[in-house]
Amino acid sequence: MKDGKLLTLAIESSCDETAAAVLLEGRQVLSSIISSQIDIHKLYGGVVPEIASRHHLENVNTVVDQAMTEAGVTMDEVDMIGVTYGPGLVGALLIGLATAKAYAAAADKPLIGVHHIHGHICANFIEHKELEPPFMALVISGGHTNIVEVTGYNECRVLGGTRDDAAGEAYDKVARVLGLGYPGGPLIDKIAGEGNPHAVEFKRVFLEKGSLDFSFSGIKTGVLNYINSEKQAGREINVPDVAASFQEAVLEVIVAKTVGAAIDMKKDKIVLAGGVAANSRLRAMLSEECKKHSIGLYYPSPVLCTDNAAMIGCAAYYKYKAGCRDDLTLDAIPNLKL
Ligand code: KG4
Ligand code: ZN
Repeated sequence: MKDGKLLTLAIESSCDETAAAVLLEGRQVLSSIISSQIDIHKLYGGVVPEIASRHHLENVNTVVDQAMTEAGVTMDEVDMIGVTYGPGLVGALLIGLATAKAYAAAADKPLIGVHHIHGHICANFIEHKELEPPFMALVISGGHTNIVEVTGYNECRVLGGTRDDAAGEAYDKVARVLGLGYPGGPLIDKIAGEGNPHAVEFKRVFLEKGSLDFSFSGIKTGVLNYINSEKQAGREINVPDVAASFQEAVLEVIVAKTVGAAIDMKKDKIVLAGGVAANSRLRAMLSEECKKHSIGLYYPSPVLCTDNAAMIGCAAYYKYKAGCRDDLTLDAIPNLKL
């Protein structure tokens, strides 16, 4: 407790960011430390799981110490320890989880396991102090693309998801094909701003009528085929045009399905979460559609969109308030369902 308010220490290590944060009463961030491995994985064009685990192990204690020091709190004052236990890379998850368990056992504090996607959604509670459920959430990252009906702080129901690649994965793959580098999402976001989104009409994949699922694996092949046929015809590739056209095809489907789901389920708020939620074109397209249908649109600032521990701390706080407690048998679950 600090000033009569609950204090949460949270740890996140599901992919390539080692992160720790301290929060007061779930929504006020006292510190949020993120040690990113992007520069290391860049060399390989994607996250290498074994390398990720090793770096989490090297960094996690320093990151936790930094979070505690920056927040100016002691372990005695901490009321709960929140940690991501899935989904994610198993080796990476295990490092954060083992660390959280060690602190929980040594300091005799309750341990709260958090679903990574629940955390991403909760990033919005940190950013928007007035936001409350119910709402429709679009969770869109390197590992996930889900439309989630959120009816309470701990009540989430997945209405649709990707059947193959996640949206961020599609961005990263297409960026690689276009020779833009890693991670591709922010690079495509930037360069697409200079291109014509209707230069190439890539196929919009809506799947069966009424389905809230997605499929993004075809568009990567579509982009590859287009590049090859242009090269064979001796024409130069206009990278901004291809990037903008790819992005438009992907986002049109995402926006249509998300807004459609909000209207069908009578939700007057849409909440964005995950790394791709930082995308400027997605925000612009959704803003326009939401305005048309009088739906409120919420998204976190970019640093709360990508992986961080503050969002995990917020989710842990609401689970704690609902009486959830985990013990030292809590295991990492790489394909944990929401
Ligand atoms: O949430 P996150 O940090 O990690 C996962 O849980 O996956 O998301 C990372 C993903 C990457 O695929 C990255 O390319 C994408 O988010 N991303 C973006 C943007 N910023 C990050 N995609 C599109 N536009 C962006 N501005
Ligand atoms: Zn994530």
